Amino acid sequence: MAFERKHILGLQELTAEEITLVLDTAESMKEVSERDVKKVPALRGVTVCNLFFEPSTRTRSSFEIAEKRLSADVLNFTTSQSSVVKGESLLDTARNLEAMGASMIVIRHPMSGAPWLLARTLDSSIINAGDGSHEHPSQGLLDLFTIRQLKGKIEGLKVVIVGDILHSRVARSNIWGFMKLGAEVRVVGPPTLIPKYIENIGVKSYFSLDAAVDGADVVIMLRIQKERQDSEFFPSLREYSRFYGLTREKLKYAAGDVTVMHPGPINRGVELSSDIADGPGSVILEQVSNGIAVRMAMFYLVASARSSS
Ligand code: CP
Repeated sequence: MAFERKHILGLQELTAEEITLVLDTAESMKEVSERDVKKVPALRGVTVCNLFFEPSTRTRSSFEIAEKRLSADVLNFTTSQSSVVKGESLLDTARNLEAMGASMIVIRHPMSGAPWLLARTLDSSIINAGDGSHEHPSQGLLDLFTIRQLKGKIEGLKVVIVGDILHSRVARSNIWGFMKLGAEVRVVGPPTLIPKYIENIGVKSYFSLDAAVDGADVVIMLRIQKERQDSEFFPSLREYSRFYGLTREKLKYAAGDVTVMHPGPINRGVELSSDIADGPGSVILEQVSNGIAVRMAMFYLVASARSSS
């Protein structure tokens, strides 16, 4: 099948076939990343702008590496040194970058929906690098890619997402991605951090970590997002960690070959202990490495859709 989307905004709107095409394309891109000369000309002559209105280590760096491996011209936009601090709007900022020749814009923004606003308004292709508490599609895709490489399939796996589901764009993209590819998705966390609608979309919700990880093939730990919490959702981090922090003791309920994931950044000792983060079964750094191949695949497919439209 051909990928016909000019933008990648979220996994909710992608079909299972489109997601699979991204993962298959990422396999070829991973092979490029293993060569001595890690470069192909797919985006030669294309200017890509990385427009980040929130801090990022992994997403921003791996988008930039992906762009350079595809031979794009890369423009990194830093909010604190831009006219945004003088009050320029998101739309005006993006229009000006487009006027300078950017035809692909990677955007991370604290407001849910910001990438959709740009996609509706600009000619450029928009790639969502995380919008508020809504979606983080490239993270969802790299998590799917990592698990498919490791376990050979997604269908039928029991996937548990632990923690702050309410504020997590990673949770939302993973829920859509894993469900579309046929996994059983469970979420677990304090009742205050589990959205009320979650069971209506086919996700099983739990308040007990022991019950949720029973038989799990994959456990995805989430960061507590203090920056998005406008009130107290649990008594203290110590209390949270006691009930929802992942330890070897709690993992014994999972499948013997359980895989532990975390999108980063990790709060060591809060959502998981260091022996789990750095121990066997953890693929946290593989997720980061795979992010490059997956983001190369996203650019490659969007660029193909642009050139054939
Ligand atoms: N996983 C993730 O989005 O990490 P960064 O915030 O460092 O990009």
